[in-house]
Amino acid sequence: MLRHAGKSASAIIQVQHTCAVTILTVILDRQNRINTNDLKARLKALGGENTPFPTDEITEFADLMQVYEGAMYEISTKLEILDSEFQVRFAHDPIHHMERRLKSVNSILGKLERKGLPLNVAAMRDNLFDVAGIRVICNYRDDVYSVSNYLSAQNDISVLRVKDYIKNPKQNGYRSLHVIYAVPVFLSSGAHYTPVEVQFRTIAMDYWASLEHALRYKTDLPDAKLTEHSQTLLDCARSLQNIETQMQNIHRDINGAPQAGEAPKAD
Ligand code: GTP
Ligand code: MG
Repeated sequence: MLRHAGKSASAIIQVQHTCAVTILTVILDRQNRINTNDLKARLKALGGENTPFPTDEITEFADLMQVYEGAMYEISTKLEILDSEFQVRFAHDPIHHMERRLKSVNSILGKLERKGLPLNVAAMRDNLFDVAGIRVICNYRDDVYSVSNYLSAQNDISVLRVKDYIKNPKQNGYRSLHVIYAVPVFLSSGAHYTPVEVQFRTIAMDYWASLEHALRYKTDLPDAKLTEHSQTLLDCARSLQNIETQMQNIHRDINGAPQAGEAPKAD
C-alpha cells in the first residue's frame, strides 16, 4: 500500500520485500543532502567579510552538521525498522510518514542570538538540541506512545528530554510528544553522541499544527481576526482530540497492536 502524504518536498520511497508483503515507508526530506562546500560558501556569503561564525570554525561547523545528519539518519532508520516490524507482526503500520530536516544556518544563528549565546560552534553544540529534527506522524495516539517507548528502550541511545504536550497540551491547543535522543554516530575518530529532536504526533495533531503554524506567521491579519481564529483553533483541537479518542477505541477493538498510554521517561 502506498501512503501518499501529499507534500511538495521530495519523498524517498523505500521498498522492502519481506515474505509475502511489500512494505513502503515514506520519508519526506525537507531539504537536500548537506554539502560541505555549499555550506561553507553559504556561511561566508551570510557574513561577508565578518562571517557570523569565526572563520577558523567554518570547517568545524560543516563537520558537525555532517554528524547531525548522520544522527538524523540513524534515528529514522531505527523508526523504519520498528514500523516494518509492526507491519509484519500486527498487520498495522503505526507510522503514517516521517519528515526530517537539518536546521538551516540562518535558524541556528537566529536561535543562538535569541538565547543570548555566542555565535560559535561550541555554543551550538552545547545548547541547541534540535539541529537534527524528525517528525513522526502516526496513525493513532497508541502508536505515538508505543513507537516512542520502543525507540527509547533501545540500549544504544539515550533519552535526554521528554515533553508530553499530548498529556499536557499547550494553552493554544498544540499537542505532540517531543523527545530528544542522543545517538552515537561512528566516525573515523570514534563514537560521537549527538542529539536529535523527534516530534511524535498523530495525523490529526499534525493537521492542526500546520494550520496553527500558518496562522502564527500570517502577520497582516487584524488583531480581532487573529483572536477569533485562535479561539476557533482551540475549539478544533478539542474536537479533534474527541474524534481521535473515538476512532482509537474502534481501532483497539479490531486490531491487536500494542497499546501504550505513557510517554517514555528521560534517562
Ligand atoms: P524552541 O526550540 O526554542 O521552540 O524551544 P523548545 O525546544 O523548548 O520548544 P518545544 O520543545 O516546546 O517546541 C519545539 C518545536 O515544537 C517547535 O520548533 C515547533 O516545531 C513545535 N511547536 C512547539 N509549540 C508549538 C505550537 O504551539 N504550534 C506549532 N504549530 N508548533 C509548535
Ligand atoms: Mg526546540
